[in-house]
Amino acid sequence: MEEFVTLTYNGQEIKLPVVIGTEGEKAIDISTLRQDTGFITLDPGYANTGSCLSAITYMDGEKGILRYRGIPVEQLAAHATFKETAYLLINGKLPNREQLTHFSVMLNDNSLVHEDLRTFFQSFPRASHPMGILSAMVNALRSFYPELGSTEEEINITMTRLLAKVRTMAAMSYKISRGHKVIYPRPDMTYCENFLNMMFDTPVKPYEINRAAVNALRVFWILHADHEQNCSTSAVRVVGSARVNLYAAISSGIAALWGPLHGGANQAVIEMLSTIQADGGDPIKAIEKAKDKNDPFRLMGFGHRVYKTYDPRAKIMKKMCDELLETMQIDDPLLDIAKELEEVARKDSYFIDHNLYPNIDFYSGIVLRAVGIPTNMFTVMFAIGRLPGWIAQWKESMDDPKWKICRPRQVYTGNQEYEFVPIHARI
Ligand code: CMC
Repeated sequence: MEEFVTLTYNGQEIKLPVVIGTEGEKAIDISTLRQDTGFITLDPGYANTGSCLSAITYMDGEKGILRYRGIPVEQLAAHATFKETAYLLINGKLPNREQLTHFSVMLNDNSLVHEDLRTFFQSFPRASHPMGILSAMVNALRSFYPELGSTEEEINITMTRLLAKVRTMAAMSYKISRGHKVIYPRPDMTYCENFLNMMFDTPVKPYEINRAAVNALRVFWILHADHEQNCSTSAVRVVGSARVNLYAAISSGIAALWGPLHGGANQAVIEMLSTIQADGGDPIKAIEKAKDKNDPFRLMGFGHRVYKTYDPRAKIMKKMCDELLETMQIDDPLLDIAKELEEVARKDSYFIDHNLYPNIDFYSGIVLRAVGIPTNMFTVMFAIGRLPGWIAQWKESMDDPKWKICRPRQVYTGNQEYEFVPIHARI
C-alpha cells in the first residue's frame, strides 16, 4: 500500500508520497512540492536530501554496514580481487570466469597511455600536487581519445580505458616527478602488482613483488571502491548530469576528492601525526585543539557525515595496518601516536557526545607509508580505488529514465532591486 506524509501549511494540506528502499530506508518524495505549494526545501550540505535512487552501495551509518551491490565489504576485502570488485560495482554482479578474463584483457589492452601525455606531465611545475595533475590529465584524455561512442560496447571501452590508464598515469606522474624513467604496465601482472611495479621498478633495481604490500593495496582499493553519494561522487553525478563526457565528470570527482575534509584527509592525517610527533608525541594538545570552537583545527581522520559508529572500513584498515607492519617488520612511530590519539579521543566526552570515531583515513596513511607510497600520492591512491564507484554511479545516472540535469534552487537573501548609479555620482 502506498504511504504518504501530509504537509500542512496555513490550513492547506498536501500529501507527499513516501519512497521505501530495499533495506527499509524511507524518503519523502518532494518532486512536486514547488509546483503544488510554491515552497522549496532548504538543506545545507544536503544532510537530509536523497539525490537519487541507487542500487549500487548500501550504507547504514548507525550500524556500521557497508555493502557493494549487496555484498558486505568485509567479504570482498577478505576474498575478492580489486578487478572483481570493480566489475561488480560497474556491472551489478560478480563476473564469471569468462567475463573476468575478458575484463582483464580489456584492461591490459588499454593500459598504455599516449606518449604525448608525457610532455603534458613534464610541463607541470615541480611542486605541483599530484591530485591537481591527475584531475587535469583525466580531463585531457578526452582530447587524446576522442572516440567515446554510444553503444554499450563503446561505452564499456571508455570505462575500461579510464580504469586502466588512471593507474598507469598515477605511477607515471610519480616517476616523472622524481626524474626517473617511466616503467610501462606489464600484461603478466595483476592490477595491484602492476601498479607497484610501475611505481618501484628501476633499471638498476628490479621490483621484487612483495605479497604483503600487494595484498594491502588490494584491500585498500576495495575499501575505497564506492561510498554512495559522498562529495566527489555527487560531483561526478552533478557534472555528468549536464551530459559532459565521462572523462570530464571523473575529473571533477578527482578535484572534489582532493579536499582535506574528503579524500585529502589521508594525507592530512599523516601530516597531523607528524606534527604531534615533532611536538613531543603528546596527543592531548591535538585533542584539546580539536575541541576548541575558536580554533578551526579538526582531528583529521575522525568523524563522518553518515557513520555515527566505527567506520567498518576503518576497522579492517586498522587490523591490516597492524598485520602489515608486523609482516614487513616496520616500526612506525606514527602508528603508536595514532593508537594513543584514538584511545584518548574515544574516552573524551566531546568525541563520545559528537559520535566521532576514526574513519577510513585514520589508519590508511600508515598502510600506504609501509607500502612505500609518498605522502603526496595518498589521495591519488584513494582516487584509483574510487574510480569503479564513480564510473558505476555515472553509468547509473546516465541510464536513469527519470534523468534530469542537476539544478538546485536557493533562497535569495541579497539586495532587492535598486537603480544603477553612474560612477561620477557614487559616494
Ligand atoms: N574533529 C573535531 N570536531 C569534529 C570533527 C573532527 N574531526 N568532525 C566533526 N566535528 C564536530 C563539529 O565541530 C561539529 O560540532 P558542533 O556540532 O559542536 O558544532 C560536529 O562534530 C558535527 O560536525 P559537522 O562538521 O557538522 O559534520 P559533517 O557531517 O558536516 O562533517 C566531516 C563530516 C567528515 C567533514 C567531519 O567529521 C570532519 O571534518 N572530519 C575530519 C576530516 C576527515 O577525516 N575527513 C574524512 C572523511 S572519511 C573519507 C571520505 O570518505 O571522505
